[in-house]
Amino acid sequence: MEHHYHITHTKTETLDLAKEFAATLMAGDVVALYGDLGAGKTEFVRGICEYFHVGDIVSSPTFTIINSYEGVMPPDEEELKLYHLDLYRINSTKELQEIGFDECLAAQDSIKLIEWAEKANGSLPRKRYSVIFTLDDKEEDMRKIEIRRTFQDDTDEVVNIAQAS
Ligand SMILES: Nc1ncnc2c1ncn2[C@@H]1O[C@H](COP(=O)(O)OP(=O)(O)OP(=O)(O)O)[C@@H](O)[C@H]1O
Ligand SMILES: [Mg+2]
Repeated sequence: MEHHYHITHTKTETLDLAKEFAATLMAGDVVALYGDLGAGKTEFVRGICEYFHVGDIVSSPTFTIINSYEGVMPPDEEELKLYHLDLYRINSTKELQEIGFDECLAAQDSIKLIEWAEKANGSLPRKRYSVIFTLDDKEEDMRKIEIRRTFQDDTDEVVNIAQAS
């Protein structure tokens, strides 16, 4: 499997990477985010949401689990809804059903951003993006960020975002 990591050294670089990635997204897309506590998943969501002109995001949707934001799709400024899910506290398929996970994913006109996506392993659509964060042992603020795109037929490819330096 081909790998390509984006490396960021600050929160701002992660936000910038997320904004550039957001420019490739379309209504209906699902973005699954993986990585440890504090890895930068929410910062990445924040960057995506900034691109779509969402005002403030909920930094940790711990209790509600699903938050929805009103954004617009550049350049036409057509209205776009984004769902931000944090599945950290989800422990079973039953709980996933109870929060309305399937209904949320069925919303074809909106973008879905899912933190702790591994909690929904079998329930994610095949066609999705995965963003995988890895922390570094030595450099506190460094993050390795791998972005992959999976297609309906289960094949996947690396997404390479040309980073502004
Ligand atoms: N290169 C970097 N990219 C992103 N965040 C960074 C970076 N360097 C330091 N940070 C800090 O790491 C933290 C990332 O927090 P964030 O809430 O995004 O993590 P998370 O993956 O969403 O964690 P959780 O699983 O708890 O929701 C922030 O405090 C941010 O300032
Ligand atoms: Mg988070």
